[in-house]
Amino acid sequence: MAHAAPAPYAAPAAARIRAQIDRLYREGIVHCDDGFTKSLYPTSVTPGRGRFLGDLMRKFGPSATLEVGMGWGLSTLHLLEGMLQAGGVHQPHIVIDPFQNTRLHGGALRVIREAGAADLIEFHEEPSEILMPKLVAQGRRFDFIFIDGDHRFDGAFVDLVFAHKLLNPGGVVALDDTERDPLYLACRFAETNWGYTYEGGHSDRATAAPGRHRYRRARPRAQIAAWRKPLHELERGQLHFVSFVDDFTPYIRANRLDSNRLAHQGLVALRAGDRAAARRAFGAAIRQDPAHLKNLFRYFRTYLPSGMARLLTGRSKRG
Ligand SMILES: C[S@@+](CC[C@H](N)C(=O)[O-])C[C@H]1O[C@@H](n2cnc3c(N)ncnc32)[C@H](O)[C@@H]1O
Repeated sequence: MAHAAPAPYAAPAAARIRAQIDRLYREGIVHCDDGFTKSLYPTSVTPGRGRFLGDLMRKFGPSATLEVGMGWGLSTLHLLEGMLQAGGVHQPHIVIDPFQNTRLHGGALRVIREAGAADLIEFHEEPSEILMPKLVAQGRRFDFIFIDGDHRFDGAFVDLVFAHKLLNPGGVVALDDTERDPLYLACRFAETNWGYTYEGGHSDRATAAPGRHRYRRARPRAQIAAWRKPLHELERGQLHFVSFVDDFTPYIRANRLDSNRLAHQGLVALRAGDRAAARRAFGAAIRQDPAHLKNLFRYFRTYLPSGMARLLTGRSKRG
């Protein structure tokens, strides 16, 4: 990544952007061109997450940058401010958001314009999953990519797959909301299967402490985090896959599906009057998902005389 000397325009431009960031956080609303007034949250990065993004720019001074998901423009402002402070915006920062002029009423574009930063960005009103492959085909490469678009697993994972293709070796990808399962899972895949290294993260509030999880070696999830692409891509055989769900399991209770299936078997057995089979099934369900307390009650219920069980629960006719 380049470390150019600060361009003469950089300091005043950064100051204008900072003034806009401060004003937006102070007022908490965005005025759109069509007269709509919208609340900054929950869409926008918080000041802490914005600082994290700016710090990445100040630390790495990337030349070619890409952002997925513009919202009200707060993350874009933080990134531009950081780039300017790191030496300047060397080429327009590419921002992708298919809903900017519809759902978002052009709010971010106005915010960027008011900050005097319209010339610093290249905006694309297209879904990232359509635009990013085009950028790959054009041979474009980036030093830094920020992903904060479609937060569903398929959307996030596809963004990360194309970010992987678009990043230069040693480039950095940051994602927002990495404490959420879809984002967390996608990033764990990049770490375990592509060899990405964790650069650091930030949380506005303390996330779950590592000691609370079954897999204590799991790193607590940050709310925004960054990873560095390896300088040399890992050799991957066609069928090579490194399992990465171990420390994911305790968060999503991935065993909930199995647990539900077993609990269902238990209920069926209970209805058939087979309390021993029901007990076995509920016991197995508890082992799959100890946090699901309902199965614990069902398990103990299998020890009660059927009349008392009926009295307590008022449910089963025969169990
Ligand atoms: C949480 S907001 C982004 C907030 C912004 N990064 C910030 O912190 O100020 C998510 C954005 O992703 C956009 N988005 C949703 N699906 C997308 C897709 N397929 N490609 C690109 N952007 C998408 C939405 O329109 C929305 O503006």
